[in-house]
Order: sequence, then structure tokens, then C-alpha cells
Amino acid sequence: MTLKYANRMDQVKGLETREIIKFIGKSDIISFAGGLPAPELFPLEELKEISAKVLEECGSDALQYVPTDGYLPLREMIAERMQKTGVKTSAENILIINGSQQGIDFSGKLFLNPGDVVISEKPCYLGAIGAFRSYQAKFVDIPIDNDGIKVGELEKTLSQTPKAKLIYVTPDFQNPTGISWSVTRRKEFIEVVNKFHLPVIEDNPYGEIRFEGKNIPPIKAFDTEGNVVFLGTFSKILCPGFRIGWICASRELVKKYTMLKEVADLQCNTMAQREVALYLSEYDITININKIRQVYKRRRDLMIQIIKEEFPPEAKYSVPEGGLFLWIEFPKHINGRELLEKTLQEKVAFVPGGCFYPNGGHENSIRLNFSNMPEEKIVVGMKRLAKIIHKEL
Ligand SMILES: Cc1ncc(COP(=O)(O)O)c(C=O)c1O
Repeated sequence: MTLKYANRMDQVKGLETREIIKFIGKSDIISFAGGLPAPELFPLEELKEISAKVLEECGSDALQYVPTDGYLPLREMIAERMQKTGVKTSAENILIINGSQQGIDFSGKLFLNPGDVVISEKPCYLGAIGAFRSYQAKFVDIPIDNDGIKVGELEKTLSQTPKAKLIYVTPDFQNPTGISWSVTRRKEFIEVVNKFHLPVIEDNPYGEIRFEGKNIPPIKAFDTEGNVVFLGTFSKILCPGFRIGWICASRELVKKYTMLKEVADLQCNTMAQREVALYLSEYDITININKIRQVYKRRRDLMIQIIKEEFPPEAKYSVPEGGLFLWIEFPKHINGRELLEKTLQEKVAFVPGGCFYPNGGHENSIRLNFSNMPEEKIVVGMKRLAKIIHKEL
């Protein structure tokens, strides 16, 4: 007997990045595919100590249910960290969630009816495409340039798209292109958004992983109407396994998201929340973040150097000032998915760029992750990649 699934399941597909990572598993493939942080930078010794201390000091409280909105000292510390980036906020504006991915999913649940339109950047984070599609949304994607989303096109699209229901953006070291929006563009964006009164989901997992240039306040810092929902996470600055992220939004929106969290999973893991809170109070996380910045910068530089020296000049690449990814575009006849089949035979993986376009096309691009592989593997993998690309061109 075949089971009858909900209509929305027609739109639900596994994420291609996850499929590639699963396929690679623990094999000897050199992977530039996933968005995995460098595991050797997880503060393992500190976290061992913190974990024992949480159980010793908090006893059974560390194993008990907590209110849905999260462990209050953690929410207070997050609010304090956000204030330092220029966002006026307090613990009341913070909801702890299972990584920013849950915030994306809840945003779909909160705002989208079947057939509604999500306005996104072009290209756009694959996990957001998957999550919003599961609410039967359509996408209208707006081109970006080196300063961010093209606000003129955004304004035109918004005025012509009555079904536009939410805007999803990643203004800091975007996944997949690595592009970061300029301050001017952020201000212009808010001016446009304020005219249309749409919720903006600002997904910001990489903002603190800056290698060079000045820190830029998040879009939330320029939000005058309370339209912006900021999604933050400890996944890339501490470790993803805790699954601790947060929503920072107006009190009204936090109440709505909290109701969704309550019916979805009641709360985040109590131990993990307390461990992150204790880590933040006993250690200076910026020391850890600085280590991450240094290592990833070296890896980015190495990748760029090999691209410059070994890739054909037709390969156009981004030089991100932070984050985990760089982006390469090839002439039109090169297909990223076909290229992956060939590079996998040589034991090198990446994510084909076409995956990041919700409306298809743009298959002549690839995303490379530089955070996860050690330098010697970056050298070997990038040289193999260069050889295959030369053959294809
Ligand atoms: C843009 C973006 N948003 C969200 C996520 C999910 O992060 P989290 O581990 O906080 O759920 C990722 C992970 O790679 C990402 O790149």
C-alpha cells in the first residue's frame, strides 16, 4: 500500500550538500564540499572541563526542562554580544533555537502560505531554499554584486510581486559566494524594506569570521521598524554539535517564534545551553574566534594562490574577506555537476553552484569550502581540480 503524504512533501528534497557529505563520509576524498568548521579548532579541553562543571555545579537542573525561550543567563549574554555589534536589544528579544537552520524553518512556518513568494539573493543558501520550499513557497531571486543585493531590482520586484511575503538574506560572507554587503547597501536595503513592510530574515552565521577589513554592523542594527529577524549561531564560532543558535527580533515576533518552538520541540537541549553559557562566562570566546580567523585566512589565501597559479584565467573567483566559502564561475559550457562527477573520480569534492539557484540555471559555477581541510590537502585537492578544469576547458 502506498502512503498518502501531505502535498508539501512534493517540494521536500534532501539537501544536495548533505547528500554529497554523506557520500564522502570518512573516505579518502578531499572535500571542499560541506560547510564544516575545522574540527581541530573546537575547544575540546575547555569543553570537557565545562561539561563536567555544569553537571557538578548545576546537578539535576542541568538535566531538567527549561522554559521554551531558553536559559536566561545565555539569552542575556547573547543580547550583550549583539549590543556590541550595534543592535539595541535585551534578553527579551532573544529566543534560543536549534541552530539558525531552525530559525529559517520557523520563519517559513510563521509567514508562508502555499504559493507565497520568498525574495532571496541570487544565489541563495541551499538550506533556506529547502526549508522555504517545504512550505510550498516560490522564489524570486534578486541579483547581487560585490556590495550586496541590488536594491534597485529589489524595489522593482517588490512593487511587482504582491505575493512576496518575506525576504531572506545573508549579508555577511554569504553562503555560497562569500560576498559581504557594504554599509551603504545595508542602509539602502532597509530604506526599501521599510516602504513595503515585509519581514526580513537576516541569516548571519559568518559575520564574526572576518579576516580583514572593518567590522560592519548587521542589517538588524539599521532596522527602524522592527521588520528584521536576526538569526545567529554558535555553530561556526564554537561548534555546530551543540545545535545552539538564536533569534533576535522584536518582542512581538519573539513571542510568535516562541509559540512555534513550543509546539515543535518544547526547548533546546538544557545541557548544551548551560555549557555554552558557562563557556562564555569562563572563557573569552573572542580568543577562539581569533584562532578560527587566522587558520581560515591562511586556508583561503592558499586556495586563492593555487587558483591564481594553476587555474585557467577563464575561471573567475571571489576573494571573500571572511566566512568559509569561495565561489568560482566558469564559461557557460562548463557544468558544475558534470565537473563534480569527474573530480570525484580523482577524489576531490565541491558543491556545484547550480544547487544555490532556486529557479535553476547558472550551472557553470562551483562553491569551494576552505575551512575544513588542512593545508596539505588543500594543495593536493586544488591542484587536482586545476588539472581537470584545464582538460574541460
Ligand atoms: C547561511 C547559513 N545559514 C544557516 C546555516 C545553518 O547553521 P546552524 O548550524 O546554525 O543551523 C548554515 C550552515 O552552514 C549556513 O551556511
